Amino acid sequence: MPHSIIEPFRIKSVEPIRMTTRAEREKTLETAKLNVFLLRAEDVLIDFLTDSGTGAMSAKQWAAIMEGDESYAGARSFFKLEAVIQRITGYPFLIPTHQGRAAERIFFAIATEKGQLVPNNTHFDTTRANLEYDGVEAVDLVIPEGTQPHTIHPFKGNIDLDRVRDLLEREADRIPFGMLTLTNNSGGGQPVSMANLRAYSALLKEYGKPLVLDVCRFAENAMFIKLREEGYASRSIESIVQEIFGYADGCLMSAKKDGMVNIGGFIALKDERWVEAARNLLILTEGFPTYGGLAGRDLEALAVGLEEVLQEDYLRYRLRTAEYMGEQLKAGGVGIVEPTGGHAVYLDARQILPHLKPEDYPAWSLCNALYLEGGIRGVEIGSVMFGKRLEDGTETYHAMELVRLAFPRRVYTQSHFDYAAEVICELKRKAEQVRGVRITKQSRFLRHFTAHFAWA
Ligand code: F0G
Repeated sequence: MPHSIIEPFRIKSVEPIRMTTRAEREKTLETAKLNVFLLRAEDVLIDFLTDSGTGAMSAKQWAAIMEGDESYAGARSFFKLEAVIQRITGYPFLIPTHQGRAAERIFFAIATEKGQLVPNNTHFDTTRANLEYDGVEAVDLVIPEGTQPHTIHPFKGNIDLDRVRDLLEREADRIPFGMLTLTNNSGGGQPVSMANLRAYSALLKEYGKPLVLDVCRFAENAMFIKLREEGYASRSIESIVQEIFGYADGCLMSAKKDGMVNIGGFIALKDERWVEAARNLLILTEGFPTYGGLAGRDLEALAVGLEEVLQEDYLRYRLRTAEYMGEQLKAGGVGIVEPTGGHAVYLDARQILPHLKPEDYPAWSLCNALYLEGGIRGVEIGSVMFGKRLEDGTETYHAMELVRLAFPRRVYTQSHFDYAAEVICELKRKAEQVRGVRITKQSRFLRHFTAHFAWA
């Protein structure tokens, strides 16, 4: 049997991408003040900025869009989505929102109090920010391997149970619930094992604490369990997913990832304790409980997307994509975070650009170089994103200088990935030509989105 893992679809509708010359890209990047967030997307050839909301919908999803019931209350589309989510999660209560962070904002507002703390493997930026906005401390307790870029471990997203127990012993009164992010976005989508999830859930139960999952990439995580964890090889993805949800009391979802849609999110809950309060707040800021922040057609597309994401051929191809990209890069001597996760590959800018100093912002410089070299857009996860300029004008720097290449679902073919790998390997060969940057203008918070730069 051939062992090539192919894209399990053929292409019915295409969107042209624009070839540009290096001279053109030099101009567009200059106009964007050397910040790829400020580029026009049409000036990007291959866009690996994020896997969120950037996927391609299937013909079946587009057909479902026409079925959308746009009734203000009690729309048929809501009940269709509700039935799918009830089957997959086993949770009876669905609260649709326009995207993941809206689910976070609403849920944290009703389920936490100022001064509390919430453990998680790693809180995603918006999760952390929404907790902190409510005066709640976001505690990251991923296993030590999860923060070591070159340590190989099959489930680098696991939470450190000893540290969770220690926290529960000291601070149980301050903990409203535990969280776990599947997959752990930090590090490119590192999975959590079923054994870790089961033990974490049991530990929280000992202290009477519920478990709430952040399930943006739940299907990718389930496929890792099937491929890597003993006892799951012959289980269906659906049954693995059901087991995952079974250990928790509720979940927050950004459907822009494993929902296979361009917009959408939800909260789903096992019992009634938070439902009424969440729905009341939903009405205040998102919309009536049967549509949340979405149109009826969005609910339809999501109902189909949640079925499609459980298909094993799709998931096999999906996980193979990051692995394949990682293999190509390693063969070219390019440093990456290992093993590769589900939705992204992280480049190690310090290894690729050893001549750049921290004050040259190596990961930012690598991002710019990728764009100039091949029209590829990634995102810096380094000292621009996580460092700070202090009052006295000095800077703090981040522990790692990484560039995340995140892969939209069902959008790029293998030759796009071959091209991207070729560009990056070529860049590695002429690394010494890559120049550092200086910040010329920045905001106080989240400066990476809007900062201006000049060549060092
Ligand atoms: N949780 C995780 C783990 C995420 O990765 C994201 C978004 C969110 C919550 C928030 O969801 O964007 O729908 O409001 N991650 C995107 C990314 C933005 O690029 O990784 P949202």
